[in-house]
Amino acid sequence: MIIGVPREIKEDEYRVAMTPAGVHELKNHAHSVLIEEGAGVGSGLDDEQYRKHGAEIVDRERLFREAEMIVKVKEPLPSEYDLLKEGQILYTYLHLAPAPELTQALLKRKIIGIAYETVQLKDGSLPLLIPMSEVAGRMSIHEGAKYLERENGGRGILLGGVPGVDPGHIVILGGGIVGSNAAKMAIGTGASVTLLDVNLERLRYLDDLYRGRLRTIMSNRVNIIDSLEWADLVVGAVLIPGARSPKLITRDMLSYMRPGSVIVDVGIDQGGVLETSRPTTHSDPIFEVDGVVHYCVANMPGAVARTSTFALTNATLPYALALADKGYKRAFREDAALLKGLNLYKDLVTHPAVAEALNMEYSPPEKILL
Ligand SMILES: NC(=O)c1ccc[n+]([C@@H]2O[C@H](COP(=O)([O-])OP(=O)(O)OC[C@H]3O[C@@H](n4cnc5c(N)ncnc54)[C@H](O)[C@@H]3O)[C@@H](O)[C@H]2O)c1
Repeated sequence: MIIGVPREIKEDEYRVAMTPAGVHELKNHAHSVLIEEGAGVGSGLDDEQYRKHGAEIVDRERLFREAEMIVKVKEPLPSEYDLLKEGQILYTYLHLAPAPELTQALLKRKIIGIAYETVQLKDGSLPLLIPMSEVAGRMSIHEGAKYLERENGGRGILLGGVPGVDPGHIVILGGGIVGSNAAKMAIGTGASVTLLDVNLERLRYLDDLYRGRLRTIMSNRVNIIDSLEWADLVVGAVLIPGARSPKLITRDMLSYMRPGSVIVDVGIDQGGVLETSRPTTHSDPIFEVDGVVHYCVANMPGAVARTSTFALTNATLPYALALADKGYKRAFREDAALLKGLNLYKDLVTHPAVAEALNMEYSPPEKILL
């Protein structure tokens, strides 16, 4: 199969959908890989590194014209719509549910649209979203530490303290992928760390894992208020799948916090846990409400593009290989998780949640393909 990896053109997007090692693997399986000139530059990967592993470096037009499968990071932008061809596989983050215009444009081009975010294993986990939650969770502590510095608006707290001086206090709301990765980093700083979740099983697991280095507390309003009173850094890492985040910290609760404390609301993509949150960007990441610094960047992994590129492609490559080796029909037939990723099949919507969100007809993929 001919696989094409274009340069990402969305603002502030520095990731690329394939590493040179990925090219190497695909070449080993006798596939051809076209990489757009400069596609890896944002992640510190130059054309020569791709060429060394057998990729052909080409311009955008040729890439879209010749590739049978386009592997990307973000959804196509309007300037890319007309480059897509009927029957081409588009394997990328698509996020179609809130995007009727994009969905219509793709249906019109009759592509095979496989969305990273809906590939789903039997246990309900989302293997192509997990790596980005891992990145954002770990990064939340770095970012929090940065904004706790006096010059950046914070209380002037060093999270680890020093001998003879109290360490900082970190409170993590939610103990899933983001929260547990934040906890790992938080414990590493030497700060005192508390994590709240509503899932007792999850709290048991984390308590066992960290043996006394992490306080686990049931998440409810009383316990959250108690925690806020002594928190220097709060990380919002709550998710209720398919729903907007619950507003666990209302505006009046900010008054329990000390001026200059910091909240990193990682779940901002689902609305965030703070009533006072609104999405921010890497170029303007923070704002202050009632003396509390809010960090609400919706695409945190973008700041560490190189790490994120490697983390993402580690997870996406096995599916890309299956699609290329077997052809999409057999790959879908043999892997129910991958089939869940199929959002669009030519002019049909094949994912129930996308169809429902857009009020469009749903065509079960099993009926079309298997
Ligand atoms: N800003 C970014 O760049 C970025 C990057 C990656 C992920 N995210 C977002 O971070 C959020 C968390 O993702 P995740 O992968 O950790 O999800 P997850 O499903 O692994 O974990 C969510 C956790 O929240 C807990 N929870 C639910 N209700 C709660 C409550 N009332 N109080 C405390 N805990 C509660 C759940 O029990 C679960 O353990 C999501 O919204 C995700 O989209 C944002």
